[in-house]
Amino acid sequence: MDNHALLAKRNQRLGVGAALFYNEPLQIVKGRGVELEDSAGKTYIDMYNNVPCVGHAHPHVVNAMHEQASTLNVHSRYLHEGIVRLADRLTELHNDAIESVVFACSGTEANDIAMTMARVATGGSGFICTNAAYHGNSQQVSQLTYVPVAQTKNPNICAFPFPEKFRAISDGDDQAIEAAYLHTIDNAIASFQAANIKLAGLLVCPIFANEGLPQIPAHFMAKAADRVRRAGGLVISDEVQAGYCRTGKWWGYDVSGFQPDIVVTGKPMGNGLPLSACAASQDLVNDYRAKTRYFNTFASSPLQAAAGNAVLDVIEEEQLAANAQKVGAYLRSELESLVATNPHFAEVRGHGLFLGLEWVKDEDNQEPDRDGAIQMVNALKDKGFLTSNAGAFNNIIKIRPPLVFAQKHADQFLQVFAECL
Ligand SMILES: Cc1ncc(COP(=O)(O)O)c(C=O)c1O
Repeated sequence: MDNHALLAKRNQRLGVGAALFYNEPLQIVKGRGVELEDSAGKTYIDMYNNVPCVGHAHPHVVNAMHEQASTLNVHSRYLHEGIVRLADRLTELHNDAIESVVFACSGTEANDIAMTMARVATGGSGFICTNAAYHGNSQQVSQLTYVPVAQTKNPNICAFPFPEKFRAISDGDDQAIEAAYLHTIDNAIASFQAANIKLAGLLVCPIFANEGLPQIPAHFMAKAADRVRRAGGLVISDEVQAGYCRTGKWWGYDVSGFQPDIVVTGKPMGNGLPLSACAASQDLVNDYRAKTRYFNTFASSPLQAAAGNAVLDVIEEEQLAANAQKVGAYLRSELESLVATNPHFAEVRGHGLFLGLEWVKDEDNQEPDRDGAIQMVNALKDKGFLTSNAGAFNNIIKIRPPLVFAQKHADQFLQVFAECL
C-alpha cells in the first residue's frame, strides 16, 4: 500500500491522533544493524531507536527467540530457569543493594511497580519529580508528566525545575547552580512536610533524557538523593532510556554519580520484545509482593527470558559499552567543532551514544528554536539519517542510535549534518 493510502487507513483504524514521525511519514519495512529500509527501497541510518539496542534483527536475539518460541512460551506461574538467570544477571550489574526483580512488559508498568513499592515501603504518598518529566502513561505514573513547579492540583506530587546549566535558575559557578537546584529539592520536601504528607520518594531519569539531556552540576544527584533519604523517601532511577550502556556506562546513575534504591529498566531489554523490570533490595521486593500480590500475564515468560538473556550476551560479547563510549565521544567532539559554524546550533550535550543538540533562535539569546530543530530533523531524514526532536522545549535534536553504531556511520552522518547546517 502506498504511504498516502496507508496513512488514511491508519487514521481510520487507529484514530487520527496516533503519533507519527516526520512531515512525510515513513513506511519502514526492514531493519538490520543500524540500517532501515523503507517501502520504496530507500535506506536510512537509524540514529534514533534505542529499543533494538544491539541492532535491528540481531541474529543471536532472533535465534534465541525463535528457539524459545518453538519450544515453550507460557505465563510465569511455573518454574523456569531462564527468567531466574535473567534476574541474576541483571542484579549483578548493580551494586549489592539491588538483589531482586519484578518483571513487567513496559516502562510504564515498571515505574508503576516502583512507585507502589516506594509507597508500600515508606508508608508515604508524596513523590518528587522534575517539571518536564515523562515516565509513562498509567494513572499513577502519568501524574508525574510535565508537572508545573508549585502546582497545587495534586498534593502528592511536587515538581522541581529540572537541573541544567544552559538555562540555569541561578547565575554563578557549578557550586552556585548546584545550591540553587538543591534548594528546590529542599522546598519540595518542606512542602510535603507542611501539608502533612509523608514522602515516598524521588523518581527521575538519571540523565534527564526527556527534559533534554541537560548538563547538570557534578554532585547534584548524589546530594539530592541524600536529602530524599534523610527525609524518609526512596530514590528511584528510571533507566528506561538511560540504562543498558546507552551512555557508555551500564547505568545512567553511574554517569550522574548516585546510588538508587529502586531501578527501572525497559525499552532496550528485549531488543523489541516487550520486557521491563523493577529491581530493588530483596526486602523491598518481598514487601511489595506480600502487600500487592502482583501478577502480570505476559511478564517473566520464557520468551522474555530468552530475549533478555540474548541481549545481555550481545552487549557483553560485542563490548557495546566500550563502543558507545568510543564512538559517542568521537561523534560528540566532531559535532562540537561544528557548533560555532551555525548561529542556531548552541550546544552538544549527553553521554556515549545519547546526544542532544540544542537549537536556539539565534546565537545572542537562548530562546529555544523548536521549528528550526524540526526542520533539521526532516532535512536529515530526507538525506537518509533518522533523528528526532525532544526536550522540555522540543528544540533538542536527539541522537540515540542502536549501540552497534560505528565510527563509519558517524562519519557519514557528520558529512550530511554539515551539509544540512
Ligand atoms: C524515561 C522514560 N520512562 C518511562 C517510559 C515509558 O515507557 P513505555 O513507553 O515502555 O511504557 C518512557 C517512554 O518513553 C521514558 O522515556
